[in-house]
Amino acid sequence: GNTAHYDGVISALEARGLRVIPAFACGLDSRPAIEQYFQDNGKARVDALVSLTGFSLVGGPAYNDAAAASDTLSELDVPYLAAQAVEFQSLESWEKSAQGLTPVEATMMVAIPEIDGSTGALVFGGRSGDIAPGASRDMQVHNERADMLARRVQRLISLRKSSRATRKIAMVLFNFPPNGGSVGTAAFLSVFSSLYNSLKAMQQAGYTVDLPDSVDDLRNRLLDGNSKRYGTTANVHAHIEVNDHVRTEIHLADIEKQWGAAPGRHQTDGRSIFVLGAQFGNVFVGIQPAFGYEGDPMRLLFEHGFAPTHAFAGFYRWLREQFKADAVVHFGTHGALEFMPGKQTALSAECWPDRLIADLPNFYLYAGNNPSEGTIAKRRSAATLISYQTPPVTHAGLYKGLLELKSSLERWRSLTPEANDERGQLADLIHVQACAIDLVPDGDVWSSDQAVEAIAKLTNTVLEYEYSLIPNGLHVVGEGVSQDERAGLLAAMADAGHQLELSNDIAMAIAQDKPLPAGEQLSADVLDALRRVNTLLSQDHELPALLHALDAGFIPPAPGGDLIRNPDVLPTGRNMHGFDPMRIPSAFAMKDGESQAKRLLARHIADGNALPETIALVLWGTDNLKSEGGPIAQALSLMGAKPRLDGYGRLCGAELISLEELGRPRIDVMLTLSGIFRDLLPLQVKLLAEAAFLAGTAQDEAPEQNFVRKHVLAHMAEHDCDIETATLRVFSNAEGAYGSNLNHLIDAGCWNDEDELAETYTRRKCFAYGRSGTPVKSPAMLNSILKNVDLAYQNLESVELGVTTIDHYFDTLGGISRAIKRSSGTDVPVYVSDQTRSEGKVRTISEQIALETRTRTLNPKWYEGLLEHGYEGVRNIEAQVSNTVGWSATTGQVQPWIYKQITQTFVLDENMRRRLSELNPAASTKLANRLIEASERNYWTPDEETLEALRRASEELEDIMEGISAEAVA
Ligand code: BEZ
Ligand code: MG
Repeated sequence: GNTAHYDGVISALEARGLRVIPAFACGLDSRPAIEQYFQDNGKARVDALVSLTGFSLVGGPAYNDAAAASDTLSELDVPYLAAQAVEFQSLESWEKSAQGLTPVEATMMVAIPEIDGSTGALVFGGRSGDIAPGASRDMQVHNERADMLARRVQRLISLRKSSRATRKIAMVLFNFPPNGGSVGTAAFLSVFSSLYNSLKAMQQAGYTVDLPDSVDDLRNRLLDGNSKRYGTTANVHAHIEVNDHVRTEIHLADIEKQWGAAPGRHQTDGRSIFVLGAQFGNVFVGIQPAFGYEGDPMRLLFEHGFAPTHAFAGFYRWLREQFKADAVVHFGTHGALEFMPGKQTALSAECWPDRLIADLPNFYLYAGNNPSEGTIAKRRSAATLISYQTPPVTHAGLYKGLLELKSSLERWRSLTPEANDERGQLADLIHVQACAIDLVPDGDVWSSDQAVEAIAKLTNTVLEYEYSLIPNGLHVVGEGVSQDERAGLLAAMADAGHQLELSNDIAMAIAQDKPLPAGEQLSADVLDALRRVNTLLSQDHELPALLHALDAGFIPPAPGGDLIRNPDVLPTGRNMHGFDPMRIPSAFAMKDGESQAKRLLARHIADGNALPETIALVLWGTDNLKSEGGPIAQALSLMGAKPRLDGYGRLCGAELISLEELGRPRIDVMLTLSGIFRDLLPLQVKLLAEAAFLAGTAQDEAPEQNFVRKHVLAHMAEHDCDIETATLRVFSNAEGAYGSNLNHLIDAGCWNDEDELAETYTRRKCFAYGRSGTPVKSPAMLNSILKNVDLAYQNLESVELGVTTIDHYFDTLGGISRAIKRSSGTDVPVYVSDQTRSEGKVRTISEQIALETRTRTLNPKWYEGLLEHGYEGVRNIEAQVSNTVGWSATTGQVQPWIYKQITQTFVLDENMRRRLSELNPAASTKLANRLIEASERNYWTPDEETLEALRRASEELEDIMEGISAEAVA
């Protein structure tokens, strides 16, 4: 009888003219109810399915059979929305909280149903916390949210009922970071080719599309168009008059508080706000405006997020109200909408992503290896994800000087120790060749003993470079992977997943779907697995999924992850989710975490250091969702702790393992979490805080055997504080905020000295998350721990994502390193624990950057693969260089030869310089200027001639850019 919350949702749906069939299933398995009431002979009788249970579809709270759920939902093939009634808090506390749902609610009621394929988390009811006598304790509906749920369902159903020919679709591209030739770029994706293929497929499927003549035509109409006339980075498609904006923007006051009177300073000529993009029949392709604070040092210090700009709010309002889109497709990883301020999960009408997307059906083409940020988009902007493949990986191979060196090294190996003279000469040659490519320092001389050792080391290094895996080019939606690429990828998968070295012949035979060459054998399991991957890779699953999503069908769930380690990410074109958080870290991860922790300590000690007392570890959501919690397990292992599980094997807290079992002292671990980790793994935030608390309060243990305890006692003696405070070790952003913003500072180049970076980092990341899970702003505590850190590290989980590929690694690991330096006055070692191969390998940040520079940035195989995609390829190369500068700025551990060789390859080589500037003038100018900036900041010291050449190149490029604008004026 206590069903007012359900009744309220039914009424809200009926108020919108929808017919509702409510059904209730006993026994925690919804399938009988679905079969009985929602299907006729296996065909759906409903247009959408809404679950109000807060549980998985099959299994309820204790376990979930996601495969069965996904089968049922696929057969039903209608949108599946799972909404929540708050269970462990009152409606009022949800409404007030910055988190939204509690950790247990978010895990059980959102994360687990997502594994079934649900989307659109939204609170529809709960109990009131009103304790006045006579106040009702019954469940009640939240009227406004129930209405939003009804609106979303209604819009999905209208989409389903509409004809393709009249459907209006908005496609949104991004511009990150702004002003650098990055309009319309996305992670791993050849956006314009993919967009072109999508438009074409839509036209063929019956949409009204004016298809551009070619990919180039499409790109030109979007990026050039009338942009010169307006001085904008893309075509101006529409103007929102300031008066109209002021009249129709219902959140105007909130926006003006942050950005001043309309229209503000972004995308405007003072009279109107520009909507950037172009229309192709019934499809509008728009460019999402930037956050607006990227180059603004004062705003980047803010601990909390704030309002979107006038242009940002205007853009989404225009899509909804002027263009009247029936659905929006966010095209590639990723934009800013879902990172706008508001609750983490189960947003309210006050939260910005909810205000902006409102009831507009939202589909999001998202990189299949990024379940964490994808999940943020799913939860905070009610998106259904359509995963896309990341580029196939391949061995880096060798080139130029490295190839010559390798042949000398091979000759060396073939010589017997007796061939003394020849060995001597060859050693000299090897030395010269290695010097020429900066593999050994210039002044370094080898005695004959040293030569043997040095040459052995060089051999290993060159081998490591040759067999490193790198991503090959960019992915194009609508195109399968070529046969050669498949063969390379299958070999990499056999290596990563089965510890097997596949010959080229075998890999090619599988790629061609032919029998193995005579005499060759593979176990049936491995062969089947590789053949399955090959088949799926040679087909396109993404355009069909996009069309199906736009018909408002069901998009089945898929795990997110890296193909070489998790073939289940195929087929793509599915609604990606993370690993069940109740089972993170898994038993497997705990075992692996222990070995990785050992490996880290061994490397540190091998470099001549003592056993560290305090380690700073950076944790990201993605890494943990993909590895069942590997990095979390490392943290626990270092502290000597493990998860405490309930009778169902679900996570419920932490416990210590004994010192005897640990066999070494407990190491103090300070954790900095990405905002994404904090949002997606709230139970693990508490787990880590509890582990630190238990270690810090283990009274019977000698401080020399328990560094956590040792530091806690010292801290309490020095600062008069309680033990709960002294054991705080888990830090992240303020709720609702993400990132340290160093990436924006560095991209804009708007900072003076490195301490500013440390200051920005600590202001953003000084929120301590204790056992309660509620953060307390604690800059003093953070600084006090930073003073004693002996080393900092982070795991690397993905071949596709190196520390120089994206700006987030230096934003997090670089940021903490710089903060440690400012607090302690010393440069501590910074390591990267590479988990991309089964073994795992610990490198210093300097080694890692050198490896990535050699195997990627300077490697023709890597950059030519990107340059095939023209404009976007140049942007990727520029990003790699800017990120390298980010590491110099934060750690100072980038070797100067790196800048020299990048300059030689991309700027001093006239042919290359011309190619880059023709393809993407803005990004190539940025690249040259970035190298000059690096020299001005003393990260390298080019000789006069090189510097002069760089300056000339930069001026020449700027002239080209200005020439373009001059043409505009004329
Ligand atoms: C994360 O998953 O936590 C994350 C992903 C990308 C950038 C930063 C953090
Ligand atoms: Mg990101």
